[in-house]
Amino acid sequence: EADARESLYLVSEYANKYFQKILHNTNQGKSIGLSYFKERGFTDDIIKKFGLGYSLDDWQAFTDEALKDGYNIEFLEKTGLTIVKEDKRFDRFKGRVMFPIQSMSGRVLGFGGRILTNTKKAAKYLNSPESDIYHKSKVLYGIFHAKQSIAKEDNCFLVEGYTDVIQFYQTGIKNVVASSGTALTPEQIRLINRLTKNITVLFDGDSAGIRASLRGIDLILEQGMNVKVCMFPEGEDPDSFAKQNTFEELTLFLDENAQDFIQFKASLLVKDSKNDPIKKAETVRDIVNSISKIPDRIKKEIYIQECSKIMDISEEVLFSTLAQINKKEY
Ligand code: CTP
Ligand code: MN
Ligand code: MN
Ligand code: MN
Ligand code: MN
Repeated sequence: EADARESLYLVSEYANKYFQKILHNTNQGKSIGLSYFKERGFTDDIIKKFGLGYSLDDWQAFTDEALKDGYNIEFLEKTGLTIVKEDKRFDRFKGRVMFPIQSMSGRVLGFGGRILTNTKKAAKYLNSPESDIYHKSKVLYGIFHAKQSIAKEDNCFLVEGYTDVIQFYQTGIKNVVASSGTALTPEQIRLINRLTKNITVLFDGDSAGIRASLRGIDLILEQGMNVKVCMFPEGEDPDSFAKQNTFEELTLFLDENAQDFIQFKASLLVKDSKNDPIKKAETVRDIVNSISKIPDRIKKEIYIQECSKIMDISEEVLFSTLAQINKKEY
């Protein structure tokens, strides 16, 4: 079992080296992959630091090379690097730029591969499937490069995507990780919780799912962490914003726009339920439900006071709602 896992690590590390070699040392890699990354504003240093690569636009170039180098088809298939259909073998990441996903200790667990042309025909990002070494719900993209800085800054920025992490890092904000577009899980939060009690969640400016992701943030509160949130301007995400701004400008923007999560949620929901008493009642319960997740009683009380002001509801009602919710839970 441990040996089988080790084999998956080895073939993933091999693929990581291979995709980088293709990016830097082949004509197709340089003219398509490397120039793509350059257009996105990534420097040579950052491309190497994050191990970015390129997978040739060929049905089985990678698989053939891996087999020739002695890697077993069983492990190529289990990592999802090779797709096996009957007697045919295909490279999963054909013609994509590659983002290796590393564990806290720097081992390569899987990959995200981005298509180069924005066609509607194929998914923009293709990711490694779940395997014995890659569990999407337990990893955070960028954690290996960010961990020291998260501890030092005593804060972690949480973004949506691979390129958000890389562009922030390049601009000088290194305490940044990505959930990679999925709903946040308790395991992912625990990885951060080991390093800091403070998270700042950064939403894409086009974030349609912003209200949906509010629920996931309760999981962070439950772990006793302090949460701030920050929205980017319409049409921008952390990557595009950091690309256009210096470290000083980015830091200033974050300082000025990061808002306490409970206050943010209360204001947002109040706006949503304006002039609708029934909706407002639901909203009050929703907010108090978030507050009920906070383990610290003093913080709870302070938030009740804050929300009472924001939502124009008496503290008394909020406290009794909190008591109701607590009764239901135990
Ligand atoms: N994602 C994914 N599959 C998709 C779309 C998105 O796995 N088809 C994940 C990726 O990890 C992506 C993240 O969700 O980085 C955020 O999605 P999105 O904001 O759409 O992409 P960006 O990271 O902004 O990508 P880019 O700037 O390259 O367009
Ligand atoms: Mn998005
Ligand atoms: Mn985005
Ligand atoms: Mn983007
Ligand atoms: Mn920048």
